[in-house]
Amino acid sequence: MTLPPIDRLALLTPDQADALRARLTAVGYDADAIARGESIAPGLFDALRLPLVHDALPLDDAPASDLALLFAYSAAVPFARVERALTPALAALALDLGLVVRDARGDARSPFLFMPFMGLWILSDPLSQDGDAVMGPGPTTDEIARLLPRTPPPSVLDVGCGAGTLALVAADRGCPGAVGIDINPRAVEMARFNARLHGLSAEFLAGDLFAPVAGRRFDLVVSQPPFVARPPAIGEAVFLYGGEYGDEFAVSMIAQTPPMLTPSGRALILLDAPVRPEAALHLRLRAALGDAPVDVAVFAAPGMSPDHMSVGYSARSLASLESYPADVRRYRRHLRALGVAEFSHAVVLLLPPGGRFTISLNVRSIRAIDGDDLARWCDAIDLASGSDAALLDATLRPAPGLVFVEERATPDRSVVPTWRARSERGIAASRELSEASWALLEAITAVGTVGDGVAAYAEMCGATAADVRGQVLAFVREHLAKATLVVARE
Ligand SMILES: C[S@@+](CC[C@H](N)C(=O)[O-])C[C@H]1O[C@@H](n2cnc3c(N)ncnc32)[C@H](O)[C@@H]1O
Repeated sequence: MTLPPIDRLALLTPDQADALRARLTAVGYDADAIARGESIAPGLFDALRLPLVHDALPLDDAPASDLALLFAYSAAVPFARVERALTPALAALALDLGLVVRDARGDARSPFLFMPFMGLWILSDPLSQDGDAVMGPGPTTDEIARLLPRTPPPSVLDVGCGAGTLALVAADRGCPGAVGIDINPRAVEMARFNARLHGLSAEFLAGDLFAPVAGRRFDLVVSQPPFVARPPAIGEAVFLYGGEYGDEFAVSMIAQTPPMLTPSGRALILLDAPVRPEAALHLRLRAALGDAPVDVAVFAAPGMSPDHMSVGYSARSLASLESYPADVRRYRRHLRALGVAEFSHAVVLLLPPGGRFTISLNVRSIRAIDGDDLARWCDAIDLASGSDAALLDATLRPAPGLVFVEERATPDRSVVPTWRARSERGIAASRELSEASWALLEAITAVGTVGDGVAAYAEMCGATAADVRGQVLAFVREHLAKATLVVARE
């Protein structure tokens, strides 16, 4: 399938951009409009559920649903309904720019995706197309965007920016130096259009990895690189495949990242990685990074199973039902031949100064974490890596979303309870605690400083503070690293 031309996108004027955004806002073409479509047969791959979405959304008779059909679900929509949703003038502009075309019956279709995302609207290509199709915001983009700081630092580099989504979210949140790089010139053109549409200032450059910004440094490098395993003899999709295992591209990119960071700069990368018991991802990354001055943290959630992956990536486009069974088998056999039985879906955080830790933490899902959780964890790990004196002076709290519960199967208080840290969201995992850990966590978080907690715990044990200090500080450091404890904020 050939990709639609994008040369006419350059014709959009600032006034037209303002009018288009105002109209999209007025008719409510936003996350809620998409949520309606996403609530239909959720969990099924789009290629399977789109006919249901095409059937149901017109029943709403709402302009926002018409725009969702047109721009999010690749449906044909009567042109009069597009004029109703956009106004006749803006519908004509959409035709002029090529955002919309009319089919033989006169109905409107969009050859693009044009999705509301975090208060923006991002133009991209449908990913049922291979080759140079440009990826816009999807569920994984949403995961990494949620990890961006609320107030971004002065410079942010989005590597493999696709439609520019992450760089534009950073620019929209006030980053004055947002830059996106993509090897696909079509992606760079679309990202520039998306910036113009929002009147945002962000620089988009075409080139391989960091080449276009050689010699520059950034406070934050963010990336969702291509990370899907590529079976042999399959067509290229530049946004998708990261090597035969999938994670090769990301590992190599991460290894090249430290020289691009300012002295306090961090990097945040989302990827799928095959679980290799003999070579855990964080250790492979450490080996690839050598003695680069960054610490490595991997937040790893369970990924898709090889079966789901084989079905999902073969069903991206059901244009040919004939080839689907063979595609699924080829994908599955590829993973089996590599000995991959499991994937993790992970976020990698690189942070200075290095030489402190290389850590992997299991999280329920990447979606359960946000930028505030990461910021709190970074503060916690800084404290844990610092001096005993600073730790004794600190005031700590259970991580937000984490509660310490005492559970008994019966109301009989003579029955020994089970103690748990139960987590609804955030980095800390739910787990059982020993009675001693429970008591210590209570002592540390209930009173003033960690030093006060040491004294309280010593009294509980009938010991002196000096006797228990070393043990308590080791315990606190472990629980700061596991995100059970966070530094109290005034
Ligand atoms: C998975 S998409 C991510 C798109 C976007 N950042 C997002 O999160 O929605 C990966 C992007 O990396 C780009 N890419 C692939 N190889 C690259 C390379 N060597 N240098 C720069 N970009 C590359 C692809 O063109 C694609 O746009």
